[in-house]
Amino acid sequence: MRLDKYLADAGCGTRSELKKSIRRGMAAVDGNVIRDVGFHVPEDASVTFQGRPVKAEKQVYYMLHKPAGVITAVTDRTERTVMDLMGGAPGKGLYPVGRLDRDTEGLLLITNDGKLGHYLLAPGHHVDKIYFARVSGTVTDEDVRAFREGLVLGDGVRCLSADLKILSVSGPGADDGTPEGDGSPENNTTPPGTSEVEITICEGKYHQIKRMFRAVGKEVVYLKRLAMGPLRLDEALPAGSWRALTEAELNELLASVPVYS
Ligand code: URA
Repeated sequence: MRLDKYLADAGCGTRSELKKSIRRGMAAVDGNVIRDVGFHVPEDASVTFQGRPVKAEKQVYYMLHKPAGVITAVTDRTERTVMDLMGGAPGKGLYPVGRLDRDTEGLLLITNDGKLGHYLLAPGHHVDKIYFARVSGTVTDEDVRAFREGLVLGDGVRCLSADLKILSVSGPGADDGTPEGDGSPENNTTPPGTSEVEITICEGKYHQIKRMFRAVGKEVVYLKRLAMGPLRLDEALPAGSWRALTEAELNELLASVPVYS
């Protein structure tokens, strides 16, 4: 790992601050002062910064397919959390990036990379999140326009423009007798009186999608996150399971974040 990244991962400062400090001779590797910010730190090297030993935690990145019925928290005294599903995942200080409601399924990024998490969640960075939703009632082109123009929620807060795509609508008389199942998109019959949509939002207000649909007189009955920035849920990953990001997924994710480029 490059020396500037090593020190940043060890919490010594930002990459740009650290570049200056390294050039001023404040970092040493195995007892030798190193002024080259791109110096490759060998595994198991002893690194000091401003005379004190420092250690970078290995950064790890996982995709969890969150099932319904667990809360998005690191720990809880009574409830099962998403971190309870991460048993055996190597890495210290793991946490979920962003929050999904207990009944929401889908993509959660789990990492110990605080800088990445902070970037992805900062309101000013407008990272796209894509959801599949099943909604009671008929979603109309008028709703699509209202979402695009920026909905005003029940509490008067205005949302940024959101992209709403209608995938299917089933009228009240369209029941063909097929059982409704669990409401998930894998069960691909649209129950009567509901609409299936894909929605892209670039912010993360509390219960945002449910409140947006409420603002146009509809209820979300099923919600699943499909993507966050360039990272897409691997549909082959069963609900409740996790896996490490592939190198390609991680490279694409980090390339979308200016602090890494
Ligand atoms: N919007 C919601 O309403 N709930 C979620 O879990 C995520 C987005």
